[in-house]
Amino acid sequence: MPAETSGLSRRRLLLGGAAAGAGAAITLGAERTGLLPGSMAAASVDTAGVNGARIVPFHGAHQAGVTSTPGAHATYLAFDLLPATDRERLRAWLRLLTDDAARITQGRGALADLEPELAVRPAGLTATFGVGREAVVRAGADAPAWLGPLPAFPEIDALEDRWSHGDLMVLLHGDDPTSISHLARMILRDSRSFATLRWRQTGFRRAYGSDASGTTMRNLFGQVDGSRNPRPGDDAFAAAVWAGDEAPAWLRGGTSLVLRRIAMDLEGWDEVGREGREAAVGRRLADGAPLTGGSERDEVDLDATGPNGFTVINPAAHAARAHVADPAQGIVRIGYSYDDPVEAGAVDGEGRPAVSNTGLLFGSWQRDVDAQYVPMQERLAQADLLNTWTTPIGSGVWAIPPGCEEGGFVGETLFT
Ligand code: HEM
Repeated sequence: MPAETSGLSRRRLLLGGAAAGAGAAITLGAERTGLLPGSMAAASVDTAGVNGARIVPFHGAHQAGVTSTPGAHATYLAFDLLPATDRERLRAWLRLLTDDAARITQGRGALADLEPELAVRPAGLTATFGVGREAVVRAGADAPAWLGPLPAFPEIDALEDRWSHGDLMVLLHGDDPTSISHLARMILRDSRSFATLRWRQTGFRRAYGSDASGTTMRNLFGQVDGSRNPRPGDDAFAAAVWAGDEAPAWLRGGTSLVLRRIAMDLEGWDEVGREGREAAVGRRLADGAPLTGGSERDEVDLDATGPNGFTVINPAAHAARAHVADPAQGIVRIGYSYDDPVEAGAVDGEGRPAVSNTGLLFGSWQRDVDAQYVPMQERLAQADLLNTWTTPIGSGVWAIPPGCEEGGFVGETLFT
């Protein structure tokens, strides 16, 4: 166990000695000035509510939650269809949910909304709908071969049903948890006679305004996570994400979502020194730059060797194992952290009462799950240094239909 991160030395650092005194002075100084390391100036406050009023258009060729910058908060809902929800009822349900989403994301109350005031601050709210195989079958459409549970990855998986699958998935993301909550409630209310809620998962990134916009998120291991993601509008994004002629006609202009709930063992991670943490991914913690040099958005150089003749990046490092040379064969990740209450009786890796229940809601968009996601996940399951501290506990795959125009509804192409 590296001395600088052991529980004992942390306590020493905090409770005794000259080092603790110096640390306390630095912290106090930072509080006084409002400045923290890395910040440029004291934070200002957005008193005008400009971000609250921000609207991401709902209608368009693609669903807006795929193409817009992920908001600070996310709620995922997954439903199981009731037996009586046949083709016609499914169509009616999708039309109803689209109407709720089209109104509330634009800052207007839903039909028969008793709290329309909750809708007036969408703060970039988007709603993205995805269908599972059963929904496609009930609609009478052809399902792509990849639509269904991922193959098992016995080396790593500890999947629980309560976080997995679902016939319909809704992802709500935006910067205001109140507007997300309101849209979620309208969707739940309007779903009662069509489906039952299977699970609900929530996640977060830094609050709006904490970082300059466009800053890559940090996950709860403290890593800069998402650096190599293509951005909406890039050719690489389009090549990786949008389903084309190879997909059933109803899915063209849509994509797929894989969602993995991945538990992160923060207590185990506590035992790892900074060097080991950086080696596990192949990137620096401070700024996300590759260990082979350059800056955050640069690729890691997997062939560069050090003075000892070994590659600088461990071939089992996460970024090495996940890397694909051709962006069209890659995926676009959308991650949200979760930090939930510890469940009764939970223990950590040492058998002590657990103090955290944390992880990543790992989402990824790709045209074709079998061609893009599965080979990558197979490589990571076989060898990835990060596997020591991560465990997938939930999993689901949905087809994400294209967007719709005003008057239409998401999923309408399933019925034509
Ligand atoms: C809790 C689990 C995970 C954590 C903490 C994690 C963290 C990271 C970090 C810190 C990076 C480097 C920065 C970046 O390029 O974003 C990265 C890269 C990447 N990760 Fe993950 N990741 C996790 C799970 C996954 C999974 C399940 C997949 C896909 C099956 C995946 C695919 C990728 C890809 C494709 C890259 C970019 C590789 C490159 O080309 O450099 N990650 N991840």
